[in-house]
Amino acid sequence: MYKKKDHYHQKAKQQGYRSRSAFKLKQINNKFSIIKKGHAIVDVGAAPGGWSQVAAELVGSEGEVIGIDLEEIDPLPSPNVTFIKGDITDEDIIEEIKKHVEKIDCVISDIAPKTTGIIDLDRSRSAILSMQALEVACALLRDGGNFLTKVFQSEESEELFRDMKQCFSYTKRYRPPSTRKRSTEIYLVGKGFNR
Ligand SMILES: C[S@@+](CC[C@H](N)C(=O)[O-])C[C@H]1O[C@@H](n2cnc3c(N)ncnc32)[C@H](O)[C@@H]1O
Repeated sequence: MYKKKDHYHQKAKQQGYRSRSAFKLKQINNKFSIIKKGHAIVDVGAAPGGWSQVAAELVGSEGEVIGIDLEEIDPLPSPNVTFIKGDITDEDIIEEIKKHVEKIDCVISDIAPKTTGIIDLDRSRSAILSMQALEVACALLRDGGNFLTKVFQSEESEELFRDMKQCFSYTKRYRPPSTRKRSTEIYLVGKGFNR
């Protein structure tokens, strides 16, 4: 069992973030600068909205954040954040996102399946969802755009990483310091999208 209220959980509560993983995005962005002022961001698997809060701070009032999740997300006070209730495996999702913003600078994905406890199945589902997030990114990113996705480490996650190498000029695997020690999750970063 995890300690119920770890350091990042408490910090998130104190600072008004909806999730402890808000700090993972901050740490990743400090290292890789994938999100910048004025950027348009798509946040895939966004509920309850912690990453979207951080992304909105990073892009500032000139930027925009579109968050998508299967779950309904309570709106944020920032006028530049829009939430869409939707499934990223749906064919129509790209057109739906394009209704809000045409040119995307960065796609971030903290997407995760509902875990079953069957490790191989959970890892495989995680990789399939992250591959789908990569497809969304490839359909939406401008040339030179950036991508970030979480995935549970497995053979399939390595396949995903190989796919990313085909379409980004820089790729890196990274575990932010706020990742729980026992977690098998890893974040894959792609910078410099080229079709
Ligand atoms: C770990 S949570 C994201 C937490 C979020 N980054 C935050 O900081 O608040 C993963 C999310 O992925 C969503 N998800 C899973 N499958 C999805 C799908 N096919 N389409 C959209 N969202 C999905 C889940 O509903 C869940 O809310």
